Amino acid sequence: MPTETILAGQVLSFTRSPWDGGAPEDAAALHEAALLRDGLIAAVGPLATLRREAPQARLVRYGDGALITAGFIDAHVHYPQTAIIASWGKRLIDWLNTYTFPEEMRLQDPAYAARIAARYFDLALAHGTTSMCSYCTVHPASVDAYFTEARRRGLRALGGKTCMDRNAPEGLTDTPQSAHDDSLALLRRWHGEGRLGYVVTPRFAPTSTPEQLESLGALWAAHPDCLMQTHLSEQPDEIAWVRSLYPQARDYLDVYETHGLLGERALYGHAIHLEPRERDRLRETGAALVHCPTSNTFIGSGLFDMAARMTEGQRVGLATDTGGGSSFSMLRTMAAAYEIGQLTGNALHPAQLIWQATAGSAATLHLGDRIGNAAPGMEADLVVLDLASTPAIAQRHAQAGDIWEALFPTIMMGDDRAVRDVWVGGERYAGAA
Ligand code: GUN
Ligand code: ZN
Repeated sequence: MPTETILAGQVLSFTRSPWDGGAPEDAAALHEAALLRDGLIAAVGPLATLRREAPQARLVRYGDGALITAGFIDAHVHYPQTAIIASWGKRLIDWLNTYTFPEEMRLQDPAYAARIAARYFDLALAHGTTSMCSYCTVHPASVDAYFTEARRRGLRALGGKTCMDRNAPEGLTDTPQSAHDDSLALLRRWHGEGRLGYVVTPRFAPTSTPEQLESLGALWAAHPDCLMQTHLSEQPDEIAWVRSLYPQARDYLDVYETHGLLGERALYGHAIHLEPRERDRLRETGAALVHCPTSNTFIGSGLFDMAARMTEGQRVGLATDTGGGSSFSMLRTMAAAYEIGQLTGNALHPAQLIWQATAGSAATLHLGDRIGNAAPGMEADLVVLDLASTPAIAQRHAQAGDIWEALFPTIMMGDDRAVRDVWVGGERYAGAA
């Protein structure tokens, strides 16, 4: 007997991208219910139709005050930084040296890494995030801890060993050879294991020698179905540093390109301060940018103009960048993206915000055919939002004229209290209640 469940409430499915030039509000449809079967969304539609189709299915009624959407997808996170989120008063390079590197060093202890991985996934799921693409630390055991926890919870998760061979403390560095060999061993162990995927992960140009970038470029070329993630143009000081370390490069992106680290499956975190040539090249290659709005304000990095990047045809995902980001919540992340949009002259529509946190991020991870949309054939990773989760949100929600007005107060003011339930692979996630 297949496992069948019907979730009844308001199911939000995207029928197209809200960035394709048409009215954003028409990019999605609402359905009365979703039928989950064998880990997938088998159908969405009227409740009576789905009950006829699956009379044996268990029925879970969430009511009209709930919104059932694809689970959130965090396209750039550092799980090892969970315990140092919200650390005060530094900008990027000082923040890395003062808070990040000492904490990442602690993950050399596999037992500590396992504890932090469990804590991170507990928090992510409590906030409605069902897929993530994470940096681990330099230590292979931190990658094992991450994937072991993700597998235990049945998540579609991506990640990789962070590689650094200079400008980092001794306990956090590897070499061009060991970065390649350790990454390859981890890739063989975890890539395609169940729902997991390995991501080649040089931290960023300042912490790698040209030889290390080269060796990771070669690894990626040999495993082209993997993603590659790194950081690009987050702060002006960092860009100047890259220029001094790589004087022959035309610009920051050129450092990655000349070492084999640019391509369609590349993900660049932040990418705020780009030169026109870099933007052209990113668009030509189809690489993805990842907007990390709470991090960009928290570490003082700058204003990423998401609407301009989308309009010029870039692929853009959305992410917390925890612990540079100041929240585990993709709702809070959408709110920050909205606020930055206001400062760059574009009021992002709620449909665009929630698309970016689901289908948009899925597309940047090349998983858009599997996750990120509550639509037939997709994997049944869903979040059930309570659209009136606090008194402040409830009183605004009560005035809403349509679904976007009903959702927007939760985007702007919601947190883990808005997450009523999480479904992972067609099963209710037990730890989220
Ligand atoms: N650049 C290089 N490493 C990091 C990191 O851990 N966080 C952020 N926000 N930027 C980085
Ligand atoms: Zn980052």
